[in-house]
Amino acid sequence: MQQVRRKLVAGNWKMHGYPALVAELVPNVVAATQNLNMDVLFIPPYTSLAAVSEQVKNTHCFVGAQSVSEYPEGAYTGEVSTRMLLDLGCKFTLVGHSERRSIFGESNADVAAKFLAAKQAGIEPILCVGETLQQRESGDTEQCIDRQLQAVVDVLDSIGGADGLNGAIVAYEPVWAIGTGRTASAEQAQAVHAFIRDEIAELNSDIAEELKILYGGSVNESNAGELFAQKDIDGGLIGGSSLKADSFSAICQAAS
Ligand code: 13P
Repeated sequence: MQQVRRKLVAGNWKMHGYPALVAELVPNVVAATQNLNMDVLFIPPYTSLAAVSEQVKNTHCFVGAQSVSEYPEGAYTGEVSTRMLLDLGCKFTLVGHSERRSIFGESNADVAAKFLAAKQAGIEPILCVGETLQQRESGDTEQCIDRQLQAVVDVLDSIGGADGLNGAIVAYEPVWAIGTGRTASAEQAQAVHAFIRDEIAELNSDIAEELKILYGGSVNESNAGELFAQKDIDGGLIGGSSLKADSFSAICQAAS
């Protein structure tokens, strides 16, 4: 079948990004990517969402959040709701980034609840999945990913079953490749992406064919081209290299 998926490159700034970075980086990337045949997404911390949103208004770029509350409103100190994100122009939110899972203790069930809350609000969740080094070395990569996907599938009933995955995005980020400079090889990444697509195809083959699956973990301008050339890799989720306009723009270029 003809590949129909448009590539997406998303920059996850993590806990970086003061006004100076927004003012310097965003207009540079917008200008450098405006003629490319792909989509660009900035994922700054909550405190920079309004400023980035303003900068990307009337451009081809999007803004998204790094996480979201599963609760709609109320006494949840420190949380940010889907409605607040919508007010700031967010079209996307990460859910289940490995740092949220490992440092802040988010379980598969917590991540699934966030996925559901985002979907119900009209924000596309980017579900992050990935195995630890220990899981990879003991041959448990597929079981780990399967558990992470299944937790989300289990909550989809209230939004039309597998249809609830329509428009959502999965990001495969092997934990051992995040921030380590040790990226998965193109073959390793492609194998897991194909596995994810096959798992979703068991629920609905059309949705699986359209599902964007991003790769994340030490992507830079040197390795992006080979990764993005893989059949089931539909773009990237970029950490460190998304904080430099030249590097991030070059990675976007590699996706177009
Ligand atoms: P690095 O690109 O810095 O490895 O981070 C990847 C990541 O966690 C993006 O969400």
